[in-house]
Amino acid sequence: MAESKANYLHRIIIIGYMGAGKTTLGKALSKDLGLPFYDLDWYIESRMRKTIEQIFVERGEEGFRTIERNMLHEVAEFENVVISCGGGTPCFFDNMDYLNQQAETIYLKATPDVLYSHIKMSKKVRPLLQNKTADEVKTYMSEQLAKREAYYSKAKHTIDIALLDSNDKIQSAVKQLKASIKL
Ligand code: S3P
Repeated sequence: MAESKANYLHRIIIIGYMGAGKTTLGKALSKDLGLPFYDLDWYIESRMRKTIEQIFVERGEEGFRTIERNMLHEVAEFENVVISCGGGTPCFFDNMDYLNQQAETIYLKATPDVLYSHIKMSKKVRPLLQNKTADEVKTYMSEQLAKREAYYSKAKHTIDIALLDSNDKIQSAVKQLKASIKL
């Protein structure tokens, strides 16, 4: 008997460092697959009615991580969805094991140069990178990425991400993503 497509559950979770392109590619992949898209930071902001920046100011990073974990446990229960996490999500509590238990996890792996270029192109406020000079940001990113790699590399799939500065490049990265999860 042919496998019923309706019974097949898709839950795709995208992880990676700040500036890897998680939101951009998550959105594009969800459009391609016709699945709803959830960005964990946006979900937190709408549930808390506060920006990520406000949460960092009011509760510090520790408070943010607790909220992030709780909200992760809500979105990662949704079925037939594409979800993008925050850069730090896999690196706290048992989040990475939980992600792997819940979904097809994909790590968007990029060099510090590519990450930095994407961050420069984006308008998103990133509390961890605020009040630093360009050199300080670059050093901080390289050091933190090296530490976080141990968590990210536990993802079920990894794809290399080059500079995403055109729609064509975004679409070819979406193809790579689909190929990696055999869709
Ligand atoms: C963070 C990444 C951010 C956001 C928060 C903390 C991190 O998301 O969750 O500012 O620790 O790397 P992006 O990866 O989408 O920038």
